Amino acid sequence: MPAAGRAVPIETDPLTFLAANIITGHASPLTPQRDYEGDWCAGGIGRSVRDVTSATGRRICCRDGGRHAHPAEIGPRPTEAALSRRALITGITGQDGSYLAEHLTAQGYEVWGLVRGQQNPRVRQLRQLLGDVRLIRGDLLDQGSLISAVERVQPDEVYNLAAISYVPMSWQQAELTGEVTGVGVLRVLEAIRVCSGISASRSPGRGQIRFYQASSSEMFGMVRESPQTEQTPFHPRSPYGVAKAYGHFLTQNYRESYGMFAVSGILFNHESPRRGPEFVTRKISLGVAKIKLGYERQLRLGNLSARRDWGFAGDYVRAMHLMIGQDEPVDYVIGTGVTHSVEDLLEQAFKAAGLDWRDHVVTDAAFIRPAEVDKLCADPAQARDQIGWEPKIGFEELVAMMVEADLELLSSGGHAEDSFGIDTW
Ligand code: NAP
Ligand code: GDD
Repeated sequence: MPAAGRAVPIETDPLTFLAANIITGHASPLTPQRDYEGDWCAGGIGRSVRDVTSATGRRICCRDGGRHAHPAEIGPRPTEAALSRRALITGITGQDGSYLAEHLTAQGYEVWGLVRGQQNPRVRQLRQLLGDVRLIRGDLLDQGSLISAVERVQPDEVYNLAAISYVPMSWQQAELTGEVTGVGVLRVLEAIRVCSGISASRSPGRGQIRFYQASSSEMFGMVRESPQTEQTPFHPRSPYGVAKAYGHFLTQNYRESYGMFAVSGILFNHESPRRGPEFVTRKISLGVAKIKLGYERQLRLGNLSARRDWGFAGDYVRAMHLMIGQDEPVDYVIGTGVTHSVEDLLEQAFKAAGLDWRDHVVTDAAFIRPAEVDKLCADPAQARDQIGWEPKIGFEELVAMMVEADLELLSSGGHAEDSFGIDTW
């Protein structure tokens, strides 16, 4: 029998039999195949080669997948424990994926990212940001591809950040959102379970693959109490929130059913200059920059009285890593504990560019949602007390950072829309 807890092929139950056949179709260990980490390695294409630190502490060239060694070392020396760890991140091309990959790489992890599509346009962006990350193809809609990815990467930790994450889109494509954001979680958990040989009668062994699920404060929806804690009941207000609640409960269920190390971070809104332009913070920071530089005069928005607990994405990926590294799997609420309205956000962002938002903002019914989450505010006390997490960047600093970054981007000829897609509902 194979050892439980690591990615090994098994031939016991029907699902596993099915999985084994799917694996053969994608990337069976018995079928030599190209797995893309060579040609997608960022060091190899379109930029100078960057080196990474190997498990033995030597620099290794990522162009040849680690076979070419360099004598010198770079950066702070990671701890021995982190050096031997390998992480697989789904959603690597998203905002959080990029920050998490940077954080884990700095901790000495070997980081792999799951990327969907034949020619994903965001890979070029990722190459520029993350030289050390290896990429592997896979899609949350495709169970076989996830099993293949887990088989190939043999991760110690899997961070499931992939989702359709834009709330308004979840009304337009509710079924797809359910499939990716909801059932996608099941597929990732199943890939880990099957590859690890875990079943109802076979518990995970030591050194099992740990799983992090990107849950959301959208699950609180029409809030029952404020601030929201780990005990606050859910009342989601969008198909996105409903799908996230499914993923959240399923993660909890796999923990309870199979003893898997599976945790959910209930993260409140977190932003950065890498945020997609469809989200309100980035829409505003880009709008301010365009108005300041004379490209536009107006910014059209929806509900200005909605309140959110906004933090900096770089702080929140630290929480993901702390959560997956706990002795026991426990879910946490992650937020700043401070709530602001969209109007506060406008005030701050326009002020950062020496403008008054009242001269430029127009409310437009087209941006009002079928059902709104009026107010979110985290109580992050448990995360602070038990895993020592605290945010470092506050609201004012965050907004100033985003406005400054967009002013710089647009004044140097950059186009946010080119890299992030269209800014419509
Ligand atoms: P994001 O920027 O929208 O990134 C979403 C990622 O999911 C992208 O990399 C996207 O890849 C990938 N993806 C979409 N459909 C996929 C599929 N079928 N198969 C594989 N990958 C797929 O989101 P984010 O802000 O980084 O958030 C990360 C996660 O945290 C999401 O699950 C989000 O719902 C959750 N979350 C975010 C916040 C927040 O405030 N940012 C708060 C709470 C929870 P492509 O490049 O191929 O589209
Ligand atoms: N996007 C957007 N565009 N939002 C607007 C606009 C607009 O023109 N005008 C007002 N808003 C309001 C929305 O109605 C909402 O109340 C608030 O701004 C925040 O909207 P988003 O930035 O789109 O974020 P979200 O809160 O709906 O969802 C984000 O945070 C969740 C965590 O609470 C996403 O990142 C989700 O994936 C994440 O789970």
